[in-house]
Amino acid sequence: MTKARFAAIVLAAGEGTRMRSAQPKVLHEIAGRPMLGHVLAALAPLGPAATVIVVGPGMDAVAKAAAPATAVLQPSPRGTGDAVRCAAAALAQIRGAIDTVLVLYGDTPLVESETLARLLAARQAAPPAAVAVAGMRPADPGPYGRLVCDRDGALLRIVEASDAGAAERAIGLVNGGIMALDAAAAFDLVGRIGNDNARREYYLTDIVALARAAGLCCRVAELPAEELAGVNTRAELAAAEAAMQRRLRRRALEAGVTLVAPDTVFLSADTRFGRDVTVEPNVVFGPGVSVGDGARIRAFSHLDGAAVGPGAIVGPFARLRPGAVLEERVHVGNFVEVKAARLGAGAKANHLSYLGDSEIGAGTNIGAGTITCNYDGFNKFRTIIGEDAFIGSNTALVAPVSVGRGAIVAAGSVVTGDVPDDALTIARGRQVDKPGRAAELRARLRRKNG
Ligand code: UD1
Ligand code: MG
Repeated sequence: MTKARFAAIVLAAGEGTRMRSAQPKVLHEIAGRPMLGHVLAALAPLGPAATVIVVGPGMDAVAKAAAPATAVLQPSPRGTGDAVRCAAAALAQIRGAIDTVLVLYGDTPLVESETLARLLAARQAAPPAAVAVAGMRPADPGPYGRLVCDRDGALLRIVEASDAGAAERAIGLVNGGIMALDAAAAFDLVGRIGNDNARREYYLTDIVALARAAGLCCRVAELPAEELAGVNTRAELAAAEAAMQRRLRRRALEAGVTLVAPDTVFLSADTRFGRDVTVEPNVVFGPGVSVGDGARIRAFSHLDGAAVGPGAIVGPFARLRPGAVLEERVHVGNFVEVKAARLGAGAKANHLSYLGDSEIGAGTNIGAGTITCNYDGFNKFRTIIGEDAFIGSNTALVAPVSVGRGAIVAAGSVVTGDVPDDALTIARGRQVDKPGRAAELRARLRRKNG
């Protein structure tokens, strides 16, 4: 059997009414990535000859999220069959070069590449089928389309739950929402789909009965239900998120990451870990985080868009925002927030700081309570600190400003001008001591207040 040459059509034009959202359904995120992005990521390793996304009016954001895939418009959401019809023209040019059209729903975000490959292979198995449907047996078949098969397991038709009678509703094998179609027959069959059903929609699922009527073979490939769960409601979105988190945690553990309490760590689809990383309980990884070998992310930290170098220690209670780059062995401790800032090797900011739009040299120590004042209400400015500097506690660095290498800034300073290399800078009111005056003052106040 040769490898399928296929084009993919991803349906994303439905209104997603059941989500009760101003946002198109397929842009709702799971593990920090839109559902549509998960579907496209599963397709990518299989090398589709073309990928077409079907979007509805006003869904420019969906088209943008799908780029470089081609987006086509379904003018009104008249059903999944109508949506596939809308994609036909976009595939006209490559029709001769493909043998299979794979139709996926943008609201089935848990599907994995190997599962799609199994469906493609199932369609091509001898004799090749006109339609191969991803079937599953979920615990609750509820709203899914029922797969009606004959005694030999050949697929006869699909009945939507809203059109199913009691006997059909009792069928546990249902439509997982992915189909592999014979490219030569697909668009002719789709063109014949009607809308004589409870919802007056053109159901893609009717393609099975049409293919059978034309004497063509249809089959089911039974695939893992947990990958084919469709997301139509917020509750299903939460369930899919939970399933994705379980998968990502399992992968992290398998890759050599210690998760002290896996169920309390939240990962993004693109979180990258080196070896021997330890993640303590209650840590959240937003999108775009990488963590180098041997680093430790301590409890209750929140990271996104950040690169943590090898051997670094982050937290507890640290916040790394986009553009935070910690080189090797950096320590960022309790209640420290870092944004668009690079900390050189071995630099330390262990307590209560905000470091934004900054460059901090290797080996530099940032004292407790240091704040980079990077914003004047209109513009952002940078703070540059050289290597091996020492910034005393409770220093305000009013950007734009620089502190030279090896410089020491006294605690409580408000630094508004550049500090030269190796200088000691004290930028605060001088201390005044008045001997005995406290006792005097106390005595006076006692007399006055009886
Ligand atoms: C669909 C299937 C059902 C299957 C289930 C699996 C049909 C008729 N039913 O039901 O058999 O068990 O998925 O999850 O296909 N869409 C469009 N244009 C439209 C309508 C829908 O692009 O006019 C898109 C939606 O954006 C969505 C996908 O198609 O991504 C599926 O539509 P949805 O309304 O969620 O279908 P289900 O009721 O879940
Ligand atoms: Mg659905």
